[in-house]
Amino acid sequence: MNGMVTRISGATVCVDLPDLKIGDRVFVGVSRLTGEVVRLEGRIATVQVFEDNRGLGIGEPVTTAQGPLTVRLGPGLLGGVFDGLQRPLYKLQEDSGDFISSGQDPFPLDCSRSWDFSTECTVGATLKTGEPFGKVREGHIDHLLLSTRDGTLAQVNTGKLQLENPAAHFEDGQPLLGWHSWPVRKARPVRRKLPPVTPLVTGQRCLDFLFPMLKGGVSIVPGGFGTGKTVLEQTIAKFADVDVVVYVGCGERGNEMAGLLDEFSELQDPRSDRPLMERTIIVANTSNMPVAARESSIFTAVTMAEYYRDMGLNVLFLADSLSRWAEALREISAALEEMPGEDGYPTYLGSRLSGFIERAGVVETLSGTSGSLSMILAVSPPGADFAEPVTQACLRVAGALYMLDTQLAHRRHFPAINWTHSYSLYSDTAMAHFTEQHGEWARLQSRCRDILQREEALREVAEVVGMEGLQDADRLLMRTAEKIRLDFLCQNSFTDDAYATPKNTLEQITTLIAEHERINTGLKEGALLDDLLMEDANASG
Ligand SMILES: Nc1ncnc2c1ncn2[C@@H]1O[C@H](COP(=O)(O)OP(=O)(O)OP(=O)(O)O)[C@@H](O)[C@H]1O
Ligand SMILES: [Mg+2]
Repeated sequence: MNGMVTRISGATVCVDLPDLKIGDRVFVGVSRLTGEVVRLEGRIATVQVFEDNRGLGIGEPVTTAQGPLTVRLGPGLLGGVFDGLQRPLYKLQEDSGDFISSGQDPFPLDCSRSWDFSTECTVGATLKTGEPFGKVREGHIDHLLLSTRDGTLAQVNTGKLQLENPAAHFEDGQPLLGWHSWPVRKARPVRRKLPPVTPLVTGQRCLDFLFPMLKGGVSIVPGGFGTGKTVLEQTIAKFADVDVVVYVGCGERGNEMAGLLDEFSELQDPRSDRPLMERTIIVANTSNMPVAARESSIFTAVTMAEYYRDMGLNVLFLADSLSRWAEALREISAALEEMPGEDGYPTYLGSRLSGFIERAGVVETLSGTSGSLSMILAVSPPGADFAEPVTQACLRVAGALYMLDTQLAHRRHFPAINWTHSYSLYSDTAMAHFTEQHGEWARLQSRCRDILQREEALREVAEVVGMEGLQDADRLLMRTAEKIRLDFLCQNSFTDDAYATPKNTLEQITTLIAEHERINTGLKEGALLDDLLMEDANASG
């Protein structure tokens, strides 16, 4: 059934079209712009248009997609670069050049590509929803094709599979294709959630050693302007020990996104020695793209992440930044003249955010395997004010806080993670794991924290009396703390030091702490610090 546009106010459009539901996707105007129904009053629906709607006029036709906004899921997503509506950006560029016009809706997967499809399912096999009915090889992973319903197989095709051709048929004649759709705002079902137990190694010494992350965990990275959020997110995207990375550039600079694409297409994954892009999906909704699609981009991205998790894989979701997403939400809410809450954000900011973040976790999938979806989310609080609503709403649901410190960034101490205010609730679990595999992790971590804390207190004294006025034991402590900060916690993302294995991290901190203990023992035996340092320098030189 066709309807028509009755009112236009920015990206918010009223349409006269009966039988719509909240969340339905509609195509607005002659150029068929994608929109989503956000309010209903009788026959009149308010629609949020996700694309640039300049040129749209009253009376233009509106049609319904007869369902909510969905993503298409199947082999070929890895290596893809999509916008917030899952439109493949390279395909759009091929079709219409560098400046993408509105109203285009190319299929996000490559239907011309042939996949080697193999299966252990035979005719007569019964399948339940979410169980794999076969697999294809996608880059470095076995991409499991998951059934979208229950049924008994009447026919199975193996060999070359193109996505639009059936891989199998059910007894009732319904085909099983290599792809399916899923509504972006609906979490994909799982049997149950499991507690996260395995460390997610980021390769950043400061994080892995002091504030470890777990697979299935959620951490947030709030930081003021220029404190290194983007560099940290991108460095973790390169090195994290996961199978799939979904990276969302949400409202950030377009040139940074272009830089990321150039870099990732050249780099190798250090673990598999295969191109990094082969394990990466990028969703780009940069600051120069329509704001409303930014709101949907994190849902589009997280649904793709869940899809790979459902194959029993470890997936990492990175977003830069959630603040820009929240700003888009605020803009949409203001256009709808909703009652504003704190700082003008809608009152449902917290519930919308937690609904999204709760899609992370370790799960038992519908087919009985275990998969994980972890999130590391950058937040850019205006004026580095961490009391603002978006940071606070994220904090309520995150398990780890990596707080970026403006002063550290000014001193060019990168990653500028403040070791006093950051925390990880996953620390005990991760440490038990690391200690079992690599020895003394827990003792060294507490020693390291102690030294950094005591340095803080001593620094004030040193400012008054000068370093020479300190006792030898305190001077030694200041010296070790400086070494820990500069040689261990600092890690330049643009050098070979960008990534450290847990083994290297432990070796490095072991050496630093052992040197400290050795000299400290000498001091207790009555020697002078300068003599001991000289001896040490001679011995190592
Ligand atoms: N780990 C790092 N190693 C080396 N340099 C870094 C690192 N992190 C940040 N920098 C330096 O700091 C600069 C700013 O970093 P970045 O762009 O990541 O900040 P941001 O927090 O994303 O800023 P914005 O708020 O503007 O988005 C980088 O261009 C780089 O020079
Ligand atoms: Mg940035």
